[in-house]
Parts: sequence; structure tokens; C-alpha cells
Amino acid sequence: MQREELSQEKIRENLNSCYQTNEIIILECTESTNVECKKHALFGAKEGLVILAKEQTAGRGRMGRNFFSPSGTGIYMSVLFKPEKEQAENVVFLTSAAAVAVCRGLEKSLGIQTQIKWVNDVYYKERKVCGILTEAVSNGGIIDTVVVGIGINLLPPEHGFPEEIQHRAGVLCEENVISKNKIVAAVLNELYAIYDTLSTREFMEEYRQRSNVLFKKIRFSTADEWKEGEAIAIDEEGGLVVKLSSEETVTLRTGEITVRFGKEDV
Ligand code: BTN
Repeated sequence: MQREELSQEKIRENLNSCYQTNEIIILECTESTNVECKKHALFGAKEGLVILAKEQTAGRGRMGRNFFSPSGTGIYMSVLFKPEKEQAENVVFLTSAAAVAVCRGLEKSLGIQTQIKWVNDVYYKERKVCGILTEAVSNGGIIDTVVVGIGINLLPPEHGFPEEIQHRAGVLCEENVISKNKIVAAVLNELYAIYDTLSTREFMEEYRQRSNVLFKKIRFSTADEWKEGEAIAIDEEGGLVVKLSSEETVTLRTGEITVRFGKEDV
């Protein structure tokens, strides 16, 4: 396949009819599609807006980290949601729901099975292929804007991954034989649909089934030390229940864990 460029028309061809009126913006290069999306929200953009960039110069990751976003080898996109009052209490589930939506979209467009490393990293063949950063903006204490940013590593970057992520970063495909536009549309179809049924939390069972940390030994950091335990459950709010060696259980609500895949802690 020729190197396929992102295209509004090609994305729309694969987008379900109910989402055809959602605005799609494609940028050559931007600092961060999440930042762009929040700017558009300030100027009245409507729910469902998606902003894609071929490259990001300051892609944002969780915990204040950068997200490596070189030109042409990844999908970098942000989707805008404007929750109504009743939906606002459900947006805490959107991060886990988005991970399920990405897995479903990749399964439908590429026919591959991916897993979720708590909280919301998507893994393929024991390597991280997608990160998700959800950012919310409140107005008068009520969340009125949520941006879900999704970064997918499609192909090997021209100069490889930076050293600090080499041991865990992976790609979906070694060669350029995949359609970016179909993947984008498939993920969007799943994300919009899951958002509409967020309050049912029906995605949570699939989230558990796709977990690659459940029943494994994990490590997590607290304010002053690293602790170890076994991940024994994921509760209805998406919290990771961990049994410590003392038999005590703790439920992690946010943060990051490491787990051993092969010879690496990732
Ligand atoms: C993580 O793995 O820590 C989350 C990474 C999220 C990256 C995506 S790429 C599109 C969107 N824009 C950003 O600046 N970040 C998200």
C-alpha cells in the first residue's frame, strides 16, 4: 500500500451514519491535539469534534510525561465530549471505556486482539501500542468539557523509539500495509457508541477480560515506597484491587503499576 495520508473523506466513508455530522479537523503538525481540542471547546466547538495531527511536537502523556509522536508513523487524535449534567458523573469511567473502545476498533479494523494494562494503556504482543490521556475542564465545579486523547503507534518510527521507552513501546504493524483512516473511523465508532452507554458500565466486563495484569504480580508506588502484590480484581469503578503479602487488600484508583512481561518490568 502507498503511504496513505489521513483524509476526512476516507474517515467519513467508514464512520457510522449517526456520526457523519461530527466535525473532523486534520492538522499537519501541532503541539498537542488535546491542547487544540480544548481551545476549540473554548470557542464553542460541538460534542464529537475530532482533531487529528500527523505529528505532535509536545504530545502529552499521563503523569506529566511526553508522548512520542513522530511524523507519519502514528495516529494522534483527540475527541471532544460535552457531558450534560446527568452524564457528568459518568465521565470518570470514560478513560477505561476509551481503552475498551480502542481495543474494539483495532479488532474490527485490523482483526487483532489487544489487551489493557491498567489503567488505560493498550498492549499488543506484550508491548504498549497506545496511550490515552483524558483531560476534563470544569466550569463552576461541574465538568462541562472532556477531551479524550488517543495516541497509537502504528509503524516503527524512522529513528526508533527513544531509549527510555524502548523496552515497552511497540507497534501494530512492521510494514505500511494498513489503512490509518479505517482505524481512525473504527475507533471513533466504538468511542462514540460507548460514550452513549457509559452509565450502564457494560464495557467493564470486557475491560476485565482484556486486562493483562489481572492475577499477576504487580508493583505500585505509594507516596514513599514501592509495594508489591497480586492484582486480584477490577471493581465496578475501574479500581484495581491488589492483595499484599500481608493478606491486606488495597484498591488503586489512579497512578501507575509495573508488571513483568517476559524479562521486562513494564
Ligand atoms: C500516555 O500514554 O501517557 C497517554 C498518551 C496520550 C497521547 C495522546 S496523542 C493524542 C493526544 N494528544 C496529546 O497530547 N496526548 C494525547
